[in-house]
Amino acid sequence: MTKPNLSLPYYHDVLVAPNDTQLHISRGIGEEQIDYLIFYSNTDENVAKYTNDRERFRNRQSFERWLTKGRIVYTLSGINDVLLGICWFGEEKIPYRTFLLPIDPVLYQFTSALRVYNGMRRRGLSTPFFQRCHRDFMENPAFSQSDYKGFWAATSVDNIPAIKVLEKLGYSRVTNSNENNKILMVIDHQTLLQNV
Ligand SMILES: CC(C)(COP(=O)(O)OP(=O)(O)OC[C@H]1O[C@@H](n2cnc3c(N)ncnc32)[C@H](O)[C@@H]1OP(=O)(O)O)[C@@H](O)C(=O)NCCC(=O)NCCS
Repeated sequence: MTKPNLSLPYYHDVLVAPNDTQLHISRGIGEEQIDYLIFYSNTDENVAKYTNDRERFRNRQSFERWLTKGRIVYTLSGINDVLLGICWFGEEKIPYRTFLLPIDPVLYQFTSALRVYNGMRRRGLSTPFFQRCHRDFMENPAFSQSDYKGFWAATSVDNIPAIKVLEKLGYSRVTNSNENNKILMVIDHQTLLQNV
């Protein structure tokens, strides 16, 4: 498993898919799941279109390099630990952009990201998966002891499923799209507590 934070208890939760299959949410990622992650990152068309994962998770080396950023990773998996989705959180200030709303950027010190892989999409799993991972991450001392507890996420302006999932969690769009077609969405601590 990736860099377990020994001060944190083991985290595992069950998510029941619409066909009654039990899926598993866990903190951390197993060795074989890293292989799935690399495979999907190199083959999933929407991941290629909307994310930088072909670079980020091109191979083991790039995955290991990425891990040194200290992200907390969660997996959604099925039978035999097959990887179905992943999300992660980490400490990183919101990028400097012109904001459409009068937000205080200092409040948004945590970033979040979500992937649910082809074959498991359009089943409404993304929102409960991401929601429960937020809930667990909020127990993490890095988050709970921070003075600034807002999250931000970057997504492509035409990535409708991602925007819908983020909005369902309570994130709001706060920028226009930039030269890479990316918008920023944020959620403040109060909204998090209400929605997550
Ligand atoms: C973003 C992502 C996690 C959403 O997963 P998903 O399983 O498709 O999400 P859901 O089934 O919960 O669908 C979310 C909403 O988007 C809608 N939706 C899903 N795919 C859609 C599509 N191709 N076109 C239009 N709407 C779509 C769903 O109907 C749902 O709408 P609703 O809230 O009105 O019911 C997944 O598509 C993904 O991993 N994409 C590739 C990586 C990525 O883009 N990550 C986000 C980068 S920030």
